[in-house]
Amino acid sequence: MTVFSADHLRALDRAHYIHPYTDHEHLHAAGTHLIQRGEGCWVWDMEGRRLMDGLAGLWCVNVGYGRREIIEAVERQMREVAFYPSFFNTATEAPIRLAAKIAELAPEHLTHTTFSNSGSEANETAIKAVLWYHRLRGEPARRKIVTRTWAYHGVTLATTSMTGLTSCTEPFGLPLPGFVQVPGPYHYGANTEMSPVEYGRWCLQETERMIVAEDPATIAAMFVEPVQGAGGVIVPPEGYLPGLREICRRHGILFVADEVISGFGRLGAWFGNTLWDLQPDIMTTAKGLSSGYLPIGATVFSRDIAAALLGGGYFAHGFTYSGHPTAAAAALANIGILEHDQLIPAVRDQMGPYFQSKLHELSGHPAVGEIRGMQLVGAIELVPKGGKSALDPKIFLGGKVMGLIRQEGAIVRGIRNLIAVSPALVVTHEEVDYLFDAVRRGLNRFLHESGA
Ligand SMILES: Cc1ncc(COP(=O)(O)O)c(C=O)c1O
Repeated sequence: MTVFSADHLRALDRAHYIHPYTDHEHLHAAGTHLIQRGEGCWVWDMEGRRLMDGLAGLWCVNVGYGRREIIEAVERQMREVAFYPSFFNTATEAPIRLAAKIAELAPEHLTHTTFSNSGSEANETAIKAVLWYHRLRGEPARRKIVTRTWAYHGVTLATTSMTGLTSCTEPFGLPLPGFVQVPGPYHYGANTEMSPVEYGRWCLQETERMIVAEDPATIAAMFVEPVQGAGGVIVPPEGYLPGLREICRRHGILFVADEVISGFGRLGAWFGNTLWDLQPDIMTTAKGLSSGYLPIGATVFSRDIAAALLGGGYFAHGFTYSGHPTAAAAALANIGILEHDQLIPAVRDQMGPYFQSKLHELSGHPAVGEIRGMQLVGAIELVPKGGKSALDPKIFLGGKVMGLIRQEGAIVRGIRNLIAVSPALVVTHEEVDYLFDAVRRGLNRFLHESGA
């Protein structure tokens, strides 16, 4: 359904549209890339070019584009009742069924869910619930929130304050007081003599030292992405996540697993926390919950926390669209596809290992400093001629190489000096081959064009 020409749209875009996380001068100098259509792992732009979407939209279109099951479920729900709130002792069918379905899929102790519209809101909801929970239990001094460097948790004031990326916090003079940042296990970025496992151990020691220095009795919760995504696909070294979980237990700090990217199959499990048996007190998710077909976020509570909240009187929190029936219907249909097509075991046993083998084939490439990944997420650290020590802090290699790879027919994400890749769960062997062929051609061009 295109009514306007590409040129007309670009002119209107320039005149009226403020994009998320965008340098607008750069955007309009290059010209907005207009995407028109999607099918499976592919999108078509308005010039008619077909591109392999190596980022599943924004780490979210897990079942691929154009799924009839979701489209029909949304249409059915909209015809019946497009929206009715879950306020005022009322609800519709879809969010109730979705909460029950999440309880069925999640670790057994995670029993209750409240909904929102995004990952940021799911995390913001978790923060407020944690503060209320500690007040109800008679520990109102527990108000501080601990997160890690390179973490990404969202864009509200509080979730930006949890985000460990200065590019997100500095423009707004954040973090707010009461947000404590401990080192995340980004071994490659640390320039250390330690091995990744030793560096992970050092991060744990430093985390506990900082918690003790803050006074554990003032700390409410720690938020943890099992694999840090937007901060650069940071895969935890062995022993690190269980160690972090143990520190939180020791100090009575609630452990919140932020599964906005890792939930619903990207790591070859319904939820990433199960891969390390983390038993989080709270789990947040969004993205893959509906494969991005409609906005929805979920905050999932343990039986114990839910009991305290449900017994605590009036729950003074909720968005107009908490439990939006049409978004919940999309999520139910999406989960139906994941189950019916057995996509998660397929990622775990076939596509994840194949994706990793193709990704790691790039490790000897002269433009590559390090390869990391797990199942369907991967990162390629880029180096210029001269290697890692020649990196210029003013030059954003990720953006440059992302542009070259897009010219070669695939969409990946540039972050600092790295490329992140994370396709839909429905990706085939041939599509993984196509994706990494395009990535390799992009890397070759980067070397050639930069004279490296
Ligand atoms: C781990 C994580 N948490 C939270 C968010 C925020 O989600 P949203 O952009 O839907 O608000 C993101 C988004 O990328 C994320 O990756």
